Amino acid sequence: MTSATLAQRDRAAIWHPFTQAATAPEPLAVVAAHGAYLELADGRRVLDGISSWWTNLHGHGHPRIAQAVARQVETLDHVIFAGCTHPPAVELAERLLQRLPDFGPERLTRVFYSDDGSTAVEVALKIAFQYQAQRGKPDKRGFVAFQHGYHGDTVGAMALGDPEEYASPFAPLLFPVARVPTDDLQPLRDLLWKDADRIAAVVLEPMVQGAGGMRFQTPEFVRGVADLCRAHDVLFVADEVMTGFGRTGKLFACEHAGVTPDLMCLAKGLTGGTLPLAATVATEKIYEAFLGPSAHTAFLHGHSFTANPVACAAGLASLDIFDHEGVLERIAALQQTHAAELTALSSHPQVASVRWLGSIGVLELREEASGYFAVERGRKLARALLDRGILLRPLGPVVYALPPYATTPDEVTRLWRTVGDLLDDGPSRTAQGPQQ
Ligand SMILES: Cc1ncc(COP(=O)(O)O)c(C=O)c1O
Repeated sequence: MTSATLAQRDRAAIWHPFTQAATAPEPLAVVAAHGAYLELADGRRVLDGISSWWTNLHGHGHPRIAQAVARQVETLDHVIFAGCTHPPAVELAERLLQRLPDFGPERLTRVFYSDDGSTAVEVALKIAFQYQAQRGKPDKRGFVAFQHGYHGDTVGAMALGDPEEYASPFAPLLFPVARVPTDDLQPLRDLLWKDADRIAAVVLEPMVQGAGGMRFQTPEFVRGVADLCRAHDVLFVADEVMTGFGRTGKLFACEHAGVTPDLMCLAKGLTGGTLPLAATVATEKIYEAFLGPSAHTAFLHGHSFTANPVACAAGLASLDIFDHEGVLERIAALQQTHAAELTALSSHPQVASVRWLGSIGVLELREEASGYFAVERGRKLARALLDRGILLRPLGPVVYALPPYATTPDEVTRLWRTVGDLLDDGPSRTAQGPQQ
């Protein structure tokens, strides 16, 4: 099958996510993936610079994960998780709980499985809401989130999110959420001082806000949010869907700040990026508020594929890789390379700022670049990069790389140098992508 045929068949049958089908270029026909590379139907290899929407950790097709998945499919492919349990779900929960941030005063002790980042967030919202009611604080029903935050595309997660362009068609559906900045604790302090009696939880992407522009916070800010929540008896929810499993250089971003949240959302890298699986992890105090003689106080929520055994087996294999393959050291080497290359690019006239943390490197283009190129420049840069074998997906002027941990420092060097060459070439040449 040629790629043109596949693209035509795709056009006729498929509705893609986050895509304006009327104007989008042909999708890349990806027929295989190994390590840090995607393999296209036309024979090209493309560096997966964004880890397939921030999911892949260890490189595609990692043998430990592939073998674990194959074994598990043959042993137990799936079973209802209400009223049943199975070894991969239990073992994954046990091993996760051992690794989650544990800085007190309470520990995370209960894993509620779901399917993806959005459902992990929906579960956290619903748990927080019901928890407050069941401990006799029914007025604590509001949520606080952050400017530039993103938490997913289901309705509750959208209500929390800030990037209006994603959620604006649905504005009338969304419940009101108080929104505060990430560069100043005072507005949150003031809000909690005034309104904590009406607030169930504060939801933060700790250290790095992803879709809102790869914006970083200081560890002090994250700690400040956690402390304020504790002081005002409000739950602190850490959405580590993107930051979890090493992206920021520590296994979890909360570790930078030395905080344990009350609820933690995990997905994406939970299976090493192989299969959909999510977890919302809670403290014992929260779990206990749902216990009682009647089903009415139980958490009446579940999805068909909750705790899918094959996905859990992939998650276990991914933790094995962390245990045995020096993954955090590899991430530290990626961080060093981002630092060196981005520092070199920081004085480029088209570059407004650079930043890096763990496996994430960010280059922000100047807003004042002129005319049509200013609007389209991120997208055109991405097309030109693709022509050179690198897949990135800039967020407007924010060009970021978040490669699989199997990517070598040399490959990251090549990535940023290619970006630098394209910036040197200037708007007119960068504007010529393969589909133009
Ligand atoms: C911080 C954060 N939370 C939640 C989500 C939603 O995850 P999913 O796309 O798996 O539903 C994302 C997705 O990018 C995310 O970055």
